[in-house]
Amino acid sequence: MSSQSLGDTPPDEFRKQLHELADWIADFREHIEGLRVAPNDKPGAIRQQLPRRAPEEGEPFERILSDVDNVIVPGMVHWSHPMFLGYFGWTSTAPGILGEILTAPLNVNAMTWRTCPAATELETVVIDWLRQWVGLSDEFDGVIYDTASVGIMHALAVAREEVAPATRKLGLIDRNLPRLRIYTSDQAHSSAEKAAIALGLGEENVIRIPSDDQFRIDVNLLGQNIATDRRNGLQPVAVIATVGTTSTASVDPVRDIGNLCREQKIWLHIDAAYGGGFAMVPEYEWMREGWELADSIVINPHKTFFVPLDFSVLYVRDLKRLRCVFSLVPEYLRGDTVEAEKNYMDYGIQLGRRFRALKAWVIWRSLGRTGVVARLREQIRLASLLAEWIKNDDRFELSAQPSMGVVCFRWVGSARRADRTPQRGVPTSEKKLDQLNSDIVERINASGRAYLTQTKLRGRTVMRIGLGNVLSTEQHLHKGWEIIQETADAL
Ligand SMILES: Cc1ncc(COP(=O)(O)O)c(C=O)c1O
Repeated sequence: MSSQSLGDTPPDEFRKQLHELADWIADFREHIEGLRVAPNDKPGAIRQQLPRRAPEEGEPFERILSDVDNVIVPGMVHWSHPMFLGYFGWTSTAPGILGEILTAPLNVNAMTWRTCPAATELETVVIDWLRQWVGLSDEFDGVIYDTASVGIMHALAVAREEVAPATRKLGLIDRNLPRLRIYTSDQAHSSAEKAAIALGLGEENVIRIPSDDQFRIDVNLLGQNIATDRRNGLQPVAVIATVGTTSTASVDPVRDIGNLCREQKIWLHIDAAYGGGFAMVPEYEWMREGWELADSIVINPHKTFFVPLDFSVLYVRDLKRLRCVFSLVPEYLRGDTVEAEKNYMDYGIQLGRRFRALKAWVIWRSLGRTGVVARLREQIRLASLLAEWIKNDDRFELSAQPSMGVVCFRWVGSARRADRTPQRGVPTSEKKLDQLNSDIVERINASGRAYLTQTKLRGRTVMRIGLGNVLSTEQHLHKGWEIIQETADAL
């Protein structure tokens, strides 16, 4: 676009650019496997290639796209690459990309029903589809946020209001309130502490309860901690149970936790950010046990429902409770709220909201329930297969029971697993093994051939593979396994 013209790009020129971009996207998807999975640059390498000052005059789109090719794409970790096996491997899909593209020209603000009826009503529809898919009763209704971290913060704000009424109005200071406590397992995600920081509860009031040998919260210890706190005059606010923990995708005994919460009148929040998707796979239906006892549940369709980042749903039993804490209508929007069944601005701190529901609607209609389930099943199959390969190689051991698409394992060298007897100069001290496992991951990631993550389990460093990419096939996984073996041998 000429820097002299006002308004938008002329239609013919825009059409040409769109075609060019469509080809770029299709080429990127088709040839992604030929790219390095990750760069091996030092921090600042990308910035160095870009001007420090914003452009004075407008630049042609072709030049911008060429910089994307030459500077941006080589500086990326390609989460969509079939050899990307890190974190929870969320995926790009063609329908997901189409959904994102469709959202761009509409560019609406879904803050009230009036500001965009279709965005508001479609949000209600997709939230309800997801609720049905994971078997939640219709006592639950929800809202779409960007991430699970934001979801948990809102859930805990409601829980806080229930034990300390009028906090919304008066805040926490100078009210003679007891110390407020949140309980969760030592395996739960750090978003619990982030929420406590944001809500003025204090991160030290998130009590981490030890987990058992399968990385599930110890419910007896949970009960004891709650009882001790009560005796000492502290006030329990909520328990967070996790369905699919970050390191091993372990699943807490939700029903037992739920019964305890009911008995103690404590808010139960379920963090099913990762596990939520798998709950619709028939073999994993057992994971839904006890969900009916929850007050709130967060599910991240951008992890396991193939929706492009970002897209997280918070369900609350009796959603009015969330509305009571966050609804605040400024005068200039009052007219907008008349008639509306739901104005999503009432369900969180955000006012302006993007039209996230559209991309979910596109991908879920494109895949259907059976398409979603089949793809999740394939992730489970691949994870089990990898676990078998690991079991059959004496130099490695599984560090946790594989769960959903996650496998944690450790290189133990030629030391026999049972007794870790040192053999001919092979370093076998656990600390050295920690370093070696970390080195294997670092070396593979630096090679650009594959990408995996490391985590700590019971203080020991382990390698971790998280499947999730629709492009990652058994051949890719096998290649990844060979790269791990080769790298371990070379060290
Ligand atoms: C179990 C669990 N809960 C919550 C989160 C936070 O998710 P988000 O990035 O959507 O805030 C994560 C992140 O991976 C997670 O693993």
